[in-house]
Amino acid sequence: MIVKLSVAVLVVLICTISFLVSSTTSTGGKSNYRSEVRLEELWSNADSGGWRPSSSPRSHWPPPPNESNGYLRVRCNGGLNQQRSAISNAVLAARIMNATLVLPELDTNSYWHDDSGFHGIYDVEHFIKTLRFDVRIVESIPEIHKNGKKKKIKAFQLRPPRDAPISWYTKDALAKMKEHGAIYLTPFSHRLAEEIDNPEYQRLRCRVNYHALRFKPHIMKLSQSIVDKLRAQGHFMSIHLRFEMDMLAFAGERLFFFKSKLFMLGINIICRCFDIFTPEEQKILKKYREENFAPKRLVYNERRAIGKCPLTPEEVGLILRAMGFDNSTRIYLAAGELFGGDRFMRPFRSLFPRLENHSSVEPSEELAENTRGLAGSAVDYMVCLLSDIFMPTYDGPSNFANNLLGHRLYYGFRTTIRPDRKALAPIFIDREAGRTAGFDEAVRRVMLKTSFGEPHKRVSPESFYTNSWPECFCQASAENPADKCPPNDILEVLNDQLEKEATDRPNSTLSSTDI
Ligand SMILES: *[C@@H]1O[C@H](CO)[C@@H](O)[C@H](O)[C@H]1NC(C)=O
Ligand SMILES: *[C@@H]1O[C@H](CO)[C@@H](O)[C@H](O)[C@H]1NC(C)=O
Ligand SMILES: *[C@@H]1O[C@H](CO)[C@@H](O)[C@H](O)[C@H]1NC(C)=O
Ligand SMILES: *[C@@H]1O[C@H](CO)[C@@H](O)[C@H](O)[C@H]1NC(C)=O
Ligand SMILES: *[C@@H]1O[C@H](CO)[C@@H](O)[C@H](O)[C@H]1NC(C)=O
Repeated sequence: MIVKLSVAVLVVLICTISFLVSSTTSTGGKSNYRSEVRLEELWSNADSGGWRPSSSPRSHWPPPPNESNGYLRVRCNGGLNQQRSAISNAVLAARIMNATLVLPELDTNSYWHDDSGFHGIYDVEHFIKTLRFDVRIVESIPEIHKNGKKKKIKAFQLRPPRDAPISWYTKDALAKMKEHGAIYLTPFSHRLAEEIDNPEYQRLRCRVNYHALRFKPHIMKLSQSIVDKLRAQGHFMSIHLRFEMDMLAFAGERLFFFKSKLFMLGINIICRCFDIFTPEEQKILKKYREENFAPKRLVYNERRAIGKCPLTPEEVGLILRAMGFDNSTRIYLAAGELFGGDRFMRPFRSLFPRLENHSSVEPSEELAENTRGLAGSAVDYMVCLLSDIFMPTYDGPSNFANNLLGHRLYYGFRTTIRPDRKALAPIFIDREAGRTAGFDEAVRRVMLKTSFGEPHKRVSPESFYTNSWPECFCQASAENPADKCPPNDILEVLNDQLEKEATDRPNSTLSSTDI
C-alpha cells in the first residue's frame, strides 16, 4: 500500500514537473503467462518489461521556426476525453504547419452547458511553457494595425475531413492559412489521422496529452483529496459505468451530441442493447430513435454476441466476482445515473456493496461547486488515473475510458481490466438460459487471455490515444536503437536550440505586411 501511495504521489508530481522527468516503474519480474488470476498482482502495477514512459525527442528536433505561417484556431467538441485528443492533434497540426496555435477552444454549447473553457480546467501557463520547444502558442489572435486601424485577423473557417492525413494540413489548410493569415478548424475532433509513421510526431502528442495538459490546481487538489480518503482504507478500484456523451452512436461511425443525459444514454442503448428495458423505457427510446436516426433493426442478443453492447452493471459484478474479488472490494464509480435507474444497479450493489463516487467520498459544498460539467469529468478522470485498478465497461473510440487507458499505461502500466465482451457474450447468454455450471471458470478463462495493462502491441482499431506503446516508451538497454531512452541532457540541448533561435527572431511572428 505504501508503494501504491508513493506511485500516486509520483503521478501527480510528474504531472506538475515536466515531460523530461521520467518516472520510475516497477519491474515486478512477473511472467506473461497466467494460469490463474492473482489478485495481489492485479492490485499492483503490471510488469513493465523494462520499458518506461518517455516522450522527449530522440532525434534532432528544432524549435518552431522563425517565421510562422499564420494562426491556427480550433474548436474542440465532445467530452473531456475527446477534447484531450483533439488538443493533442491541434498542437501536432500547428507544428506540421509551422503555425502559431491559438489556445484551443473547448466546445461550450454541448451537453454539459459548461462555459469554463480551457482556462477553466487546464493550467494555461504550464501548457504554453511545456510546449515551448514544439510550437508557439498564444492565448488569442492578436490585433493588427492596418491603415492606422486596429483589428483582429479574421480566421478563415474550414471543416477538416475526419482523420485527415498530414498532407491535408500541409496543402489545403496551409494554402488558406497563407491566404488569410489565420484559419479556424471546426469541428475539431478526430481530424488528424491517428496512425502517423513518424515517432517524433507521435511523441509530441504524448508530450501534450501526458505532460502539457495539466488540470488546474483546484481540480488536482480535490482529486488528490478523494484519492487520499479512498486510499486511507487500502487499495481501490475505479469503474466507468456511464455511457458518455461522446459515445459512438450506431455501429461506431458517427459521433452525436445530445443535450439530454437520458436521451444520450438512450441512444447508446437503443443502438445496441434494447431488449433489456421495460416496455415504457423502450417506448421512450424508440421515439427518440425514430425522431433522430435512420431506421436500423438491432437485436440485443445479436449486438451483444458481436461484442457491441456495453456491459450491464450486473455483468461487471459477475466478472469481478468470478475473478475472485470479494464483497469487501472498494469501488469508485466514475458514473452518473444509468438509464433504467436502480433496477440495473441493485444486482451490482448486492455483489459489491462498498461503492463510492465523488459525492459520497467528499460530500461538501466545495465539491458540488467544482464537480459540475467538465471539472466534474476532470475529477473523475484523475481519480480513475490514480486508482489501483481501472475497469472500463465500454472502451470504444471516443469514450471516457479511451484516453484514460492510454494515460494509465503511460504512468507506469497501471492495472486495467478490459473484458473481452465478444468472448464473454456466449457465457452470459448460457447463464441466462440457466446453464450456470462452470460460469466462473469460463469467465476466468476469457479474462486470463486479456492484457492487464502491460506493454502490448497496438492493433487496429486500438487508438494511439489508448496505447502509445512503443513510441512514447523507451528502454535503458534496448536492442533496437530506436527504443533507447534519450540522453539525460536533452532538456539542455532543446533549451540551447531555443535560445539560439530566439536571438535571431523578431518579436512579432506575423506582421500586418504578411497578410
Ligand atoms: C516548417 O519549417 C521547417 C523548418 O524551417 C521547414 O523545413 C518545413 O518545410 C516547414 N514546413 C512548412 C509546412 O512550412
Ligand atoms: C460479504 O459476504 C460475506 C459472506 O461471504 C457475508 O458474511 C458478509 O456479510 C458480506 N459483507 C457485506 C458488507 O455484505
Ligand atoms: C453517489 O453515491 C450516493 C450514495 O451511494 C448516491 O446517493 C448518489 O446518487 C451517487 N451520485 C452519483 C452522481 O452517482
Ligand atoms: C531567422 O530570422 C533572422 C532575421 O529575422 C535571420 O537572420 C535568420 O537567418 C533566420 N533563421 C532561420 C533559421 O531562418
Ligand atoms: C522586443 O521585445 C523586447 C523585450 O521583450 C522589447 O524590449 C522590444 O522593445 C521588443 N521589440 C519590438 C520591435 O517589439
